Amino acid sequence: VVDISKLYAQTGMFTYDPGFTSTASCESKITYIDGDQGVLLYRGYPIDQLAEHGDFLETCYLLLYGELPTAAQKADFDYRVTRHTMVHDQMNRFFTGFRRDAHPMAIMVACVGALSAFYHDSTDISDPQQRMIASMRMIAKMPTLAAMAYKYSIGQPFVYPQNDLDYTSNFLRMCFAVPCEDYKVNPVLSRALDRIFILHADHEQNASTSTVRLAGSSGANPFACIAAGIACLWGPAHGGANEAALKMLEEIGTPDRIPEFIARAKDKNDPFRLMGFGHRVYKNYDPRAKIMQKTTHEVLNELGIKDDPLLDVAMELEQIALKDDYFIEKKLYPNIDFYSGITLKAMGFPTSMFTVLFALARTVGWIAQWSEMIEDPSQRIGRPRQLYTGPTERNYVTVAQRG
Ligand code: ACO
Repeated sequence: VVDISKLYAQTGMFTYDPGFTSTASCESKITYIDGDQGVLLYRGYPIDQLAEHGDFLETCYLLLYGELPTAAQKADFDYRVTRHTMVHDQMNRFFTGFRRDAHPMAIMVACVGALSAFYHDSTDISDPQQRMIASMRMIAKMPTLAAMAYKYSIGQPFVYPQNDLDYTSNFLRMCFAVPCEDYKVNPVLSRALDRIFILHADHEQNASTSTVRLAGSSGANPFACIAAGIACLWGPAHGGANEAALKMLEEIGTPDRIPEFIARAKDKNDPFRLMGFGHRVYKNYDPRAKIMQKTTHEVLNELGIKDDPLLDVAMELEQIALKDDYFIEKKLYPNIDFYSGITLKAMGFPTSMFTVLFALARTVGWIAQWSEMIEDPSQRIGRPRQLYTGPTERNYVTVAQRG
C-alpha cells in the first residue's frame, strides 16, 4: 500500500522516523545538548554555572533575549514580570468550577488556555511588542495559577502575589502561607526551588516543546500553544516522570527490595521501567541530575531531615543501577526527575504538584522557542507526512448488504 516513490516524487525526499530520533524540526539558537558528553548549555552558558551563580528570572531573560542582562536590564525585567503576577479576578470562577480532587495538571491545561479569553491584545502574534507582553504575562502568571491550583485542591483560600518578594519566594508564599498564621519564606528553600526552575527552564526540542512549536506553527495564540505544551508534559514518559519516580521509590520502600525492581526493569515481559532513569538524548549522566542531587541534600539538611528512607532507596538504587550491565549497556543513567521528587516532597509539595512545577519553569523555554519560531522567516506550518498502511480503495456497501 505504501508507495514511497510517489511520496518521494512529491517532495524530493521522504524519511520514516518514528519518535523523530534523527530528524531536526527546526534551527534554534537557544539550547545546546551534547547527550554523549552530558553537556547542557543555555545560549552557550553551561547549566551548572547558571544554576550556581544566577537566578531564574535572569535565566528567563537569557533564554528570551539571547544575552545575560546588565544590572539595569535585570532590574527592569524583574519589575516588568512582577507587574503581571495578578490574574483576572474572573479566573477565580474557573478554579471553583473544578472538583477539589481534580489533578492540578488538568486545571493548568484549562486555565492557561483560558488566559487567551482574558488577554485579547496578547493574541496578536504579528506584533513583536505584544509577543513580548504575552511572554511576560505567561512567566508572571504561571506561579499564581499553579499556587491557586494547589490551594484549591487543599481547600484553602487563594493567596495573592506579594510583589516585593522575589519570583520564587513569592511562589512559595502563595503556596504555603495561610491567612491566620505568619509565614516567612525560608531563603534556603527558595534558592533551592529557584535552582530547580533554572534546571527545568529549557531542553531544546523535547516532546512538549515540539508540541508548542507545532501548535504555534498554525498561528495559534501563545496561551493556547503553552496549554498544548502543558498537556504533553503531563505524560509519565516526560514531565510526569518525577511524580512516577517518587511513587516508584515509595513502592520499593526499603533498599533490600531494590534487586527485585531492577530484575523487573530488565524483564522484557514486564512493562515496568525504572522511572527517573534513561533519556532520549543523554547517553551519559544528565548534567541536571548532578546539580539536583546536591540540591536535594541541601534541602534535607536545612529541614533537618536525616535518614530519609526515600533518599536511602534512591542512593542505593542509583549505585546498583550504575554498576548493572543492563543499564551500562543501554546507557541508562538517572535523569533530573530521579531526585527532584524527593526534594519537592521535602519542601511540602504533594506529588500531584510536581509536574505543575516543571510546567511553571518550562514555560519560559516554551515561549522562547515559540518566539524564535515566529521570527524565523523559513517558518511553515508543521505538517508531518505518514506511511499509509490501511486498506486500498474499496466501494461502499450499504448496511443492509453487509449482513
Ligand atoms: N528502565 C528500564 N529499561 C529502560 C528504561 C528504564 N527507565 N529506559 C529505557 N529502557 C530500555 C528500553 O526497554 C529499551 O530496551 P530495548 O533496546 O531492549 O528495547 C532501551 O532501554 C531503549 O529505550 P527506549 O524506550 O527506546 O528509549 P527512548 O529514548 O525512546 O526513551 C525514555 C527515553 C522515555 C526517557 C525512557 O528511558 C523511559 O521511559 N524512562 C523512564 C521515564 C523517565 O524517567 N522519563 C523522564 C525523561 S526526562 C524528562 O522528561 C525531563
